Amino acid sequence: MALKKGDTLFIVLILVVLAVFFAISGEETTSHVPKDEIHARFYPIIQNEGKKAGEKFCGECHNEKQVPFPEGHPPKFRCLFCHKLDRD
Ligand code: HEC
Ligand code: HEC
Repeated sequence: MALKKGDTLFIVLILVVLAVFFAISGEETTSHVPKDEIHARFYPIIQNEGKKAGEKFCGECHNEKQVPFPEGHPPKFRCLFCHKLDRD
């Protein structure tokens, strides 16, 4: 039972959609910036002035002396590319 050309295209399309879906959900597993007393004050800065303005403050605490990074943490120059804000 041979597949018609249209069927093959349809299956490929579904596979592409699934692949994109997995790529997006994979990104979401990186922990978010918590919306607690410590981090909540950065939310308006990031939302109004942009990621770069907010990231200036992260290193005040997130360094080897205070809140060390987990082992094997990826290069950390732009925190907010990977660590998203929590949704309201
Ligand atoms: C005043 C100190 C301080 C600053 C500034 C700060 N953090 Fe944190 N951060 C902490 C502490 C303490 C923890 C661990 C306790 C907690 O989860 O709140 C933490 C935890 C985290 C976590 C892990 C949350 C989890 O799910 O385990 C992420 C991600 C994070 N911070 C990102 C950031 C980013 C991005 C910035 C810059 C916008 C930032 N932090 C600025 C002190 C700080
Ligand atoms: C290239 C992507 C990337 C960048 C940039 C990045 N991180 Fe991470 N970070 C991760 C991944 C992946 C993990 C481990 C998985 C997790 O727990 O989120 C992690 C883990 C953490 C944790 C521990 C989270 C926990 O749940 O225990 C903290 C805190 C953290 N990062 C803070 C920062 C800060 C602050 C910056 C900027 C100076 C930064 N990260 C930049 C990808 C990134």
